[in-house]
Amino acid sequence: MSIETLRRDNAQFIWHPMAHPRAMQADRPDIIARGEGCWVWDVDGHKMIDGVAGLWSSNLGHSCRPVRDAIVAQLDELPFFNTFRGTTHPRAIELSRALVDVMQPEGVAAVMFGNGGSDAVEGALKLARQYHKLRGHKDRSKFIAMRQGYHGVHFGGMSVNGNTNFRRPYEPLLPGCFHIDSPWLYRNGYTQDEAELGRIVAAQLEREIVFQGPDTVAAFIAEPVQGAGGVIVPPANFWPLVREVCDRHGVLLIADEVVTGFGRTGHLFGTRLWGVNADLWCLAKGISSGYVPLGATAVSRRVAEVFDADTSGGGQVTHGYTYSAHPVAAAAALATLKILLEDDIAGHVARVSPAFQQRLRGLARRHPFVGDVRGHGLMLGIELVADPVTRATLPKTSDLPARLARAAYRRGLMVRVSGPNVILSPPLVITEAELDFLCSTLEAAFDDVRPT
Ligand SMILES: Cc1ncc(COP(=O)(O)O)c(C=O)c1O
Repeated sequence: MSIETLRRDNAQFIWHPMAHPRAMQADRPDIIARGEGCWVWDVDGHKMIDGVAGLWSSNLGHSCRPVRDAIVAQLDELPFFNTFRGTTHPRAIELSRALVDVMQPEGVAAVMFGNGGSDAVEGALKLARQYHKLRGHKDRSKFIAMRQGYHGVHFGGMSVNGNTNFRRPYEPLLPGCFHIDSPWLYRNGYTQDEAELGRIVAAQLEREIVFQGPDTVAAFIAEPVQGAGGVIVPPANFWPLVREVCDRHGVLLIADEVVTGFGRTGHLFGTRLWGVNADLWCLAKGISSGYVPLGATAVSRRVAEVFDADTSGGGQVTHGYTYSAHPVAAAAALATLKILLEDDIAGHVARVSPAFQQRLRGLARRHPFVGDVRGHGLMLGIELVADPVTRATLPKTSDLPARLARAAYRRGLMVRVSGPNVILSPPLVITEAELDFLCSTLEAAFDDVRPT
């Protein structure tokens, strides 16, 4: 098929996530045709460093031979069978055991599989409600989440999403979902002191739980570092305080680790960054390094024990997908996990990321349209502003983020734009030399553009 036909057919036949179908005709997406290591090539043969890891996913890069081999071997052995009660298969069993092993410090007892992050969130929200029902707390159905949070696109996850753009077209959503502020140092009306901000927002959570009635609240869900919302790193005291608040009121804590899980912050899990254990974890993306879609909800012993002890039948998990624990995805995840641990990929991230974070902070000093550069590990957000002194937001119509992304693309770097933010989340196996190239290319792209 010719490149022009590909472009034309794309505009005509695919409805892309988060895009207006008609806009795809005028503003055609880049067609990525090939990947190798931390690099990708578009259909015109233009080579770029993948600054987004596919979409926070390709943590081991695009040509990881052991993952590829595991997938091929699994296709030869058993391409598919289901895990609905009466049957299972070896890879599902091996992967569940491997995940529970690796999450021993988290106190995880079991995992429930789905096909991606939205599934993982849906599973966690449903298990949270069921857990309370099993304990006789039938009114505990509400969820509290944070503004700027992103939890996928199913009705549950969409209802706890902290960005109304994702919700408005599909309202009305799940009743009983409420939002507190994000502990966002750069943009909050309270304070510029990190510890104070952590205390203020944790207190806000407590007030909301008390206001709703603790006996009506099932869970609080949050990302250890908010990703899609602009890479917002909470103050260090925030998660420990949140854990205390949840415990005081019998509210479950759900950590949405879809982005932060499996090493992106320099820790195997984002909750380790904060020294806190959740009750349920949402896992996806890096779980299979993006090679095959997979998601999982990890269940703590505390939650699992309630299901195990149930004799009423109410503990039956009436949730699951045809492709839960798909054998090929499970094989990819097993191979991914092995490399992640044997090569200490999280340790690699912890070693190489401070210089990366430090260097790109320099963009805020050099360009008046850069308001804030923030992040942790190999996730970084650059917020573009209209005025760095007043922190006035970029007009919604501004094409500056898109022009920056184009400039980076031309120079050989793929970045992601989310609202006024330029976001970077390269593969975790990226070398120091590649990170240096990524930073130089981004710096040059910033030099290329004028704010108006
Ligand atoms: C924190 C978080 N949760 C959930 C999701 C949804 O994952 P998926 O797109 O695989 O459904 C995402 C996707 O980016 C995410 O960042």
